[in-house]
This record gives sequence, C-alpha cells and structure tokens, in this order.
Amino acid sequence: MAIKIGVLGGDGIGPEVCQQGLKVLDTLCELRGFDVERIEWPYGADHCMATGGPGKGVVLPDSIWSEIKELDAIFLGAIGDPRFEAGFLEFGIVGSLRFKLDLYVNLRPIKLYSEDLCPLKGKGVKDLDMLVVRENTEDAYAGIMGFLKKGTPDEVAIQEMIYTRKGVERVIRYAYNKCMERKKAFKLSLVDKANAIRAHDIWRRTFAEVGKEFPKVTQDAMYVDACTMWMVKNPESFDTVVTTNLFGDIITDLGAMLQGGLGIAAGGNINPGKVSMFEPIHGSAPKYKGQNKANPLAAINAMGMLLEHVGRPDEAALVEQAVGGLLATKRVASLQAGAMPCDKIGDLVANEVRVLAGDKPRKPKPRK
Ligand code: IPM
Ligand code: MN
Repeated sequence: MAIKIGVLGGDGIGPEVCQQGLKVLDTLCELRGFDVERIEWPYGADHCMATGGPGKGVVLPDSIWSEIKELDAIFLGAIGDPRFEAGFLEFGIVGSLRFKLDLYVNLRPIKLYSEDLCPLKGKGVKDLDMLVVRENTEDAYAGIMGFLKKGTPDEVAIQEMIYTRKGVERVIRYAYNKCMERKKAFKLSLVDKANAIRAHDIWRRTFAEVGKEFPKVTQDAMYVDACTMWMVKNPESFDTVVTTNLFGDIITDLGAMLQGGLGIAAGGNINPGKVSMFEPIHGSAPKYKGQNKANPLAAINAMGMLLEHVGRPDEAALVEQAVGGLLATKRVASLQAGAMPCDKIGDLVANEVRVLAGDKPRKPKPRK
C-alpha cells in the first residue's frame, strides 16, 4: 500500500528545501519499490495574502483536517513571513497542526557528523550524539494568555505555563522508551527549572515515578540554565533529554549550533502511531527565498524521520548514512546558506543514497 503524505512547503525557503526532501524520497521509492501518494498544499503567507490577507485570508482551511485523516504523515517546509505579525502564521499553521493532531512529542536529534562543523574546541563526533524529547502541546505554548489595559502605561500581560499530569507523563514515558531503544548510555536527563518555576515539581515527581518502569535507565535531573552550560562544556555527558515545550525550543537551537547550524537540524512532531508532522527546525529565512542558496539537509533529515515514522526504518537509516557520509567526507563541507546550491546538495544526497543502496551513481547529464 502506498504511503500517503501531505506536503506543506510554506513560506520563504520552505518550498525549495522541501523539493530536495521529496527528491530523496522519490529516489528511495524507485530503489526500494514502494509508492508514495502526496497531496501538496499551498498554505502559507502568499496563500493567506491572496485570499484576503491578515485577519481575513485563509491560513488553514477546515477541509484540511479531513484530508489529513487519510494520511500517514505531513512534511512541512517552513512558516513565517515579515508581512504578518510575529507568531500569526506560525501558530495558525505549525501550532494548529501540533495542537489539533495532538502531536505531543517534538523529537529532535542532535548529532555531529564532522568535527569541523562543531564550534566547540576539542570536541569531535564521538562527543555529540543526543536526542531531545521536547513536550509539544503544553507549557507557555498552550495559549492561555491575555492583556489588560493594553497599550496603556498600566498594561498587564500574562501567559500561563500549564502542565497536566497526563501531558507530562506521556512525554516522559515516551522519552524513557526512546532512551531504551537508543541503547547508548541508558541515561535520561530531565531539563526543567524546578527551583524557580515551582510548578515544575510535577515534572520531577512524574520523572521519578515513571522511571520505576525503566530500572535500566539512569535518571538525571537538571535545571535548564545548567543544561545550557553542560551542553557547551560536556556535550558527551548527554544521551536522551526530556524537557518542557519552551526549554526544548531553546536548547535545541543551541544543539543545532553545536552540530554545525540550523542547516542540518530536523524535528518530528509526533503522536505515536498517528499522523505526525516532520519539519526542519529552521525558519523560513525570507532573504534566501527562491535563490537556491538554502541548505536542504535539515529538510532531508526530516524526511528521514518521516520514513522511520511510516514504517520504513531501513530507508530512514539510508538517509542518515547518506547525509552523515557527505558531511564526514566534506563533500558537503559547510552548512552555511549559499555555500553550495540547494538543489546540488539534494542531488548529492540522492546519489549517495543510490550508492549506499547498491545502485550505480548517476552522473549529472552533461549540459548541451
Ligand atoms: C520551532 C519554532 C516554533 C516554536 C515557532 C515558529 C513558534 O521555533 O519549531 O522550534 O517555538 O516551537
Ligand atoms: Mn524553535
């Protein structure tokens, strides 16, 4: 049976990096003899502008939810556009998908493939291989907020960090399971701020309680400020991390820099066994839009994670090996935008996948 995916390229560089992820997917389909059916959606800033603009235009139509019901996964490029108020499209699209589909895990691997990409002195590939499990539906992102006397000198603004036992427990259990599956150091670090945000006590208690089901896993709880310090000082001390939505957002950008930049970092927004969404962590980078300069490796890695989710772990492994190999051998030597054309990097990964799968590499056709 064909795998069914929805593709939402979105804004800025989103569509072009998505194209490269799809190129790698098509190559795998051809090599491994499986089919993918895809719906491509036009949603994002341009579509909203064309249908009435901020406040009036279509962000996501209601019809999308019944389309999604028929899918296995969603592949998303990037959302965000300077013509809109910050967060409007991000919450209207990315946030909506995360909340309505209850994608309660945001899974973000942080792995170094070449020492030269790491900004830390004296750290190499063996020192950075961690998996961050970010809670994805609660915390300050839940949308319980408001303003009082807005725009006056007496203005009050609030946004609540909320945590439910159910929400905390399910993501912590997921993280313990991932830690077991990884078979690395069998260590799970809880990252919170329980000393200042006293509500984080619910994370500490749940972490210890669920941990009893996983006697093999060493429990390690730390505050987020200390976590940022250790990530820079001793990244090798991390295996699997579980954390709140907001802290997960922040530490995974730090993690992305340690692996060489946002050009490579991917994430899966997951509800295990249900339709889930995969995306590069980077934003829409409007200044690079349509210039073929963006690095598509993050989107390609997101495609790898999607394949794993839809039951194609061998193909997911091929994608990772291909990307890792190109970086380790410096055939892709930089993750900076503009260092190498976007489509060229997509071609390199697709060819590498062929080589790894035992097919002959295709020479690019000579130009006439
Ligand atoms: C991310 C992004 C989003 C987030 C923004 C766009 C709302 O930074 O996916 O990490 O904060 O979750
Ligand atoms: Mn972020």
